[in-house]
Amino acid sequence: MDAADPLAGKREAFWLPDGVIYLDGNSLGALPRRVMARMRRAVEEEWGNGLVRSWTDAGWYPAPQRAGAAIARLAGAKPEEVIVCDSTSVNLFKALVAALRLQPERKVVVSERGNFPTDLYVNEGVAELMDVELRCAEPGDIETAIRAAGSDLALVQLTHVNYRSGLVHDMARITRLAHQQGALAIWDLSHSTGTLPVELNACGVDFAVGCGYKYLNGGPGAPGFIYVATQHLPSFRQPIQGWHGHASPFAFDHDYTPHPGVDRMLVGTAPQLSLIALEEALAVFDDVDMTQLRAKGSALGECFIRLVDQELAGQGFSLASPREAALRGSQVSLTHPEGYAIMQALIARGVIGDFRAPDVLRFGFAGLYLRYVEVWDAVAVLKEVMSSRAWDRPAFKAWKAVT
Ligand SMILES: Cc1ncc(COP(=O)(O)O)c(C=O)c1O
Repeated sequence: MDAADPLAGKREAFWLPDGVIYLDGNSLGALPRRVMARMRRAVEEEWGNGLVRSWTDAGWYPAPQRAGAAIARLAGAKPEEVIVCDSTSVNLFKALVAALRLQPERKVVVSERGNFPTDLYVNEGVAELMDVELRCAEPGDIETAIRAAGSDLALVQLTHVNYRSGLVHDMARITRLAHQQGALAIWDLSHSTGTLPVELNACGVDFAVGCGYKYLNGGPGAPGFIYVATQHLPSFRQPIQGWHGHASPFAFDHDYTPHPGVDRMLVGTAPQLSLIALEEALAVFDDVDMTQLRAKGSALGECFIRLVDQELAGQGFSLASPREAALRGSQVSLTHPEGYAIMQALIARGVIGDFRAPDVLRFGFAGLYLRYVEVWDAVAVLKEVMSSRAWDRPAFKAWKAVT
């Protein structure tokens, strides 16, 4: 399968340490080699020698727009609809308030109980702030909740690919259903952009946010992105009116005049070094066919599931992700009562996945840099960890700050 893989050559674009099988690109993407050289230049030449001149001379200032345009290509959006800024959490806050302000008479937000915690927390905070009712449906009841809210429904806020199970929501269908009630749809693309083809325009999505450090490989804490559909660009009002969202920040006007485009989602000065890393990392996607990448991510997951079925039957694992590839993002989750210790034993052997309480072992399959043989080897290591009970040691049961 590796010999027939059209994306096999892409692995060379990444720095991966020897002895590591990296199955956590869904949490922190691997380091693209070109970012190393770019960061050296950014620090030494642009910051060190260029100093403040680099905002203009090194093209720092328009980087949020350039990186946004690169992400727009991966997300099925127009370049002028996406901008890179802030964290996903902050961007979600801005998108939620902006969407609610477009239809202030509507008072219900539908989300999902299993949504990523930051999405739930931000939704709760905004519901209180904007005096709307947040209804969190069970995954199977989302459509019923949308229909039940009817003309009270202001918006639906969901995550495209669930962080825990990898379940993919039908973005087109749910967005259409929200629109049929006269409501808007806001999607969190943290686990889909850079690994699945995303079609924001074709699905009619109103607002979207997403992460820069997972499948986009932008580095730890890379800035997030935000999308506003063209039809909302003239009218949306976001709540954090910072100077970078002003129509003319360097006029130092005392009155706020919002930028006419998506740029008014900007707030303050960008974390420029992180933004440079993300922009450079996005160049890895320039020649990537997202359909091919999706096919590889699915096939890697398929291999993993088949090998787990074959090699680990009777060891107490359950599949917590959809078996059907079309319903699964680029991750496979297993549950096991000793999941935490098992994951620590795997990591100690160089097979890096992660753990989500209370019992989920997550394995991410980033098709840009993973080989099929690594899936084979990872399952062999997992089998050895189970058969030797290597996980059953106090060191592997000590809780780490980040799991
Ligand atoms: C769906 C989803 N949204 C948001 C985030 C993170 O948001 P932030 O970058 O603000 O920490 C994550 C992180 O794992 C996530 O999985």
